[in-house]
Amino acid sequence: MTLEFITDLIFWIGAIAFIWGLRLLSSPDSARRGNIIAGVGMGLAILSAIFQPLGSVSNNYPWIIGAMLVGGIIGWISARKVQMTAMPQMVSIFNGLGGACAVVLASAELYYFYEGQTALGMGELLILYLALLIGAVAFTGSMLAFAKLQGLVNDRKVTLPYHNIINMAMLLLLLSLTVYALLQGKDFGFEMSMLILLIGLVYGFSFVAPIGGADMPVVISLLNSFSGLSAAAAGFAYDSRIMIVGGILVGAAGTILTVLMCDAMNRSLLNVLIGGFGGSGKSGAGRAAGDQVAKEVSISDAAIQLFYSNSVVIVPGYGLAVAQAQMVVKELDNLLEANGVDVKYGIHPVAGRMPGHMNVLLAEADIPYPKLLDLEAANEALAQADIAVVIGANDVVNPAAENDPSSPIYGMPVLQVWKAKNVIVLKRSMNPGYAGIQNPLFFMDNTRMLFGDAKDSLNKLVAEVKNL
Ligand code: TAP
Repeated sequence: MTLEFITDLIFWIGAIAFIWGLRLLSSPDSARRGNIIAGVGMGLAILSAIFQPLGSVSNNYPWIIGAMLVGGIIGWISARKVQMTAMPQMVSIFNGLGGACAVVLASAELYYFYEGQTALGMGELLILYLALLIGAVAFTGSMLAFAKLQGLVNDRKVTLPYHNIINMAMLLLLLSLTVYALLQGKDFGFEMSMLILLIGLVYGFSFVAPIGGADMPVVISLLNSFSGLSAAAAGFAYDSRIMIVGGILVGAAGTILTVLMCDAMNRSLLNVLIGGFGGSGKSGAGRAAGDQVAKEVSISDAAIQLFYSNSVVIVPGYGLAVAQAQMVVKELDNLLEANGVDVKYGIHPVAGRMPGHMNVLLAEADIPYPKLLDLEAANEALAQADIAVVIGANDVVNPAAENDPSSPIYGMPVLQVWKAKNVIVLKRSMNPGYAGIQNPLFFMDNTRMLFGDAKDSLNKLVAEVKNL
């Protein structure tokens, strides 16, 4: 058995593990297993790369093992310490580092080419420039995304007037320089290729700068696909099939997720990238809008209604995550179930601020997965439910999305909580949600508002239900 055969075999097993792992990630029940299998695939990919019969690689084992140890220890510690709410930041850093790796690989190859140590055709040169540019954008874009999510950078402080025009000009300059580099071949020179890299790094930063805080999950998913594509391009340059497969899988998954998120918000990617709605939102702290007044419910009335109902559908939203009230929701759920109430959860695909946000929160509280209904099933359950309890959700339960063509969210599929016999909405004020628009649900005849921090209100409800 030759070394080449063994590395090929490892490559194939690794590639199958990636695809199988990704498949298992599509359901929460199998996601943990999927993660482990994909991790094993990555381990095999690293092995096959290390033992790939390439003279230059085999000379550098101390460097390779040293770097893997340092990276592995940092990765292990940060993955153990990261809070669930800080996952988007962590993903962002990983994306950025993936992009940085592609930049380093492409730069080294370009150096050898311009110094005359290797010969490359135009196609190979193009691939190297793609790895360089996409990697550069993924790197600085992700670092800025991290800083924004971590609250280290204020959106407005990094946005210039006419930012979109500046970005367009920079993109055109980058594309023209790259075409020129391809046409010039070796005469272009390594220094000029580093100038392209520098502009690419600035562009990545500038590309993310004008995008509002709440649109960041879409951008992170897009940058994730960029880091995958840059890795795939670097894989082509290094003739590493496992890098190509892994990169293309990440690129495709990131692209699909970006499209799904935009669809679920009924917005185009362009609209997200140039900054549509979102950000701070208008304030409307009063309890009335025009001549409409929202009706309130007391804790004791709400507790009685819930305790003596047959079926309750809870609709969690971003406010549940802010209040960190998932454990109390579970406590209320247990008390109601013990009294024979059927409790289910309606999960909107873009509730919260990141994909799967509500699933993660409810899983933290050990709420059984079969209780979570997707949009379609939840709408069927809501039409039969006695009470819909909306906890810190706003846009995802806004009827204007269905019946007001002038609404910015018109066309976005929503959870039809108003179809339940009664609706109780837990939020702190009449402030709008992410889309910055008022919600007619709050003024409907069958809706009652329970104002206050969601955790606080739920704790009071639990105490009241215990006394019934
Ligand atoms: P939102 O529409 O943003 O509404 C959240 C509501 O929670 C607010 O109206 C707020 O009202 C309330 N709230 C905040 N803190 C609270 C607390 N401590 N206690 C009780 N209530 C609290 O949330 P949603 O319904 O989940 O919709 C998500 C929105 O984000 C959609 O527009 C979606 O398009 C967008 N988005 C989602 C994603 C992903 S991937 N999930 C990505 C980007 C954008 P008060 O201030 O009055 O309490």
